[in-house]
Amino acid sequence: MSSRLAIHGGKKAVTLDQSRASQWPIIDDEVIAAVTGQLKTGEISFSNTIYEFEEEFADYHGVKYALAHNNGTASIHSALFAIGVGPGDEVITTAATFWGTYMPILSSQAIPVFCDIDPFTGCPDPADVEQRISPNTKAVIVVHLGGMPAEMDAIMEVSRRHNLIVVEDCSHAHGATYKGQKVGTIGDIGCFSMQAGKLLPSGEGGVMITNNLDWHERAICLGHYERISKLSNPDYHKYSPTCFGYKYRISPLSAAIARVQLRHLDQRNKQRDDNVMYLMDGIGAFSGIYPLKPAEYIFRGYYSSPYIRYHADELNELPKPKLIEALRAEGTSVASGAPGGSNHLSAIFQERNHPAFSRPEIQHKITYRKGDLPRSEKPRQDMMTIPAFPAADKILLDQYIEAFHKVTDNAVELLKKI
Ligand SMILES: Cc1ncc(COP(=O)(O)O)c(C=O)c1O
Repeated sequence: MSSRLAIHGGKKAVTLDQSRASQWPIIDDEVIAAVTGQLKTGEISFSNTIYEFEEEFADYHGVKYALAHNNGTASIHSALFAIGVGPGDEVITTAATFWGTYMPILSSQAIPVFCDIDPFTGCPDPADVEQRISPNTKAVIVVHLGGMPAEMDAIMEVSRRHNLIVVEDCSHAHGATYKGQKVGTIGDIGCFSMQAGKLLPSGEGGVMITNNLDWHERAICLGHYERISKLSNPDYHKYSPTCFGYKYRISPLSAAIARVQLRHLDQRNKQRDDNVMYLMDGIGAFSGIYPLKPAEYIFRGYYSSPYIRYHADELNELPKPKLIEALRAEGTSVASGAPGGSNHLSAIFQERNHPAFSRPEIQHKITYRKGDLPRSEKPRQDMMTIPAFPAADKILLDQYIEAFHKVTDNAVELLKKI
């Protein structure tokens, strides 16, 4: 292996094809057979496959109830309806997430209140959650961002002390665990997206899980009219002809895909984790590079790329952009990046142009200003990402490690040519 940097005309350290190692979702013969089998039944709108998937998903999590949805956003809307979030209620969540986390709060005519994040993980900062609690706060939606479980002990402690219901948005974190417990089962309700890029991809789909029968049945009342007449609570039967106005049933084709993907979830999560740990252990040996591994009580999912920290002072103040440029020239897919997001500054909150904001209970109650969330608005500058390959060959990972080796070894030379 030449030690001349690729950026200076040397050979690249990474020569193996990375597209296969990165390919996701995995659509193999098993998935194709499941979809074909479903198509052959002719049941492409409703099928027992949906119930079978729900039973398997509930079993996997060790919970009583799983309710499949047509997407993850719908599952969060159902969760909020189930727990009775309504006009004037406040729900605390983070702005560093996809809109499917917090727009269902507005759809419930309630008020999203954004808290700040842990700058290394992007998950809610439990101390900041507590700062945002008011007498109107009803619930917290915890996002396990990128697959990293949030600090659930502290979040549950604050929430229990203030009588708040905890909804976990596990859309990035299927199969991740915190102190041995699966995410989605630590709070009161767990919600999952199964959109194509997720760790459990069904195409489109979502699931809500809980141990609370009444919340499960209320969620059914919102968007699953076909099940209402069979609910254990007879008070709900009268809503059978209309439900509460949404149709949230998952497609049986998606349920068929999800059943297959669920069977492989743990093994595929482990594969990604093994790849990340191998890479982190390898590159962590070099000056200036500090992999950010999860705490030992966490098993992380890798929906998003893992982060590493860069200490420029250990590489003669080599600027991070130059380090990244050199690593990319070696053929790696590293990138600059740290958790963050300023969705509280987007038009819907600034213009308050959503029917929810026209309600008197909400009208003047809350503002969304720049500077409200310093850590979300200004992600750390000393971080970058490395890939979490779903299926990397060890040779590819060794080539990545060699790329970091070459570039960090040649920091002085790199600096000379800036
Ligand atoms: C954190 C998070 N929550 C909720 C959702 C909503 O899921 P869906 O796209 O399936 O509606 C997503 C989707 O990407 C997400 O990333």
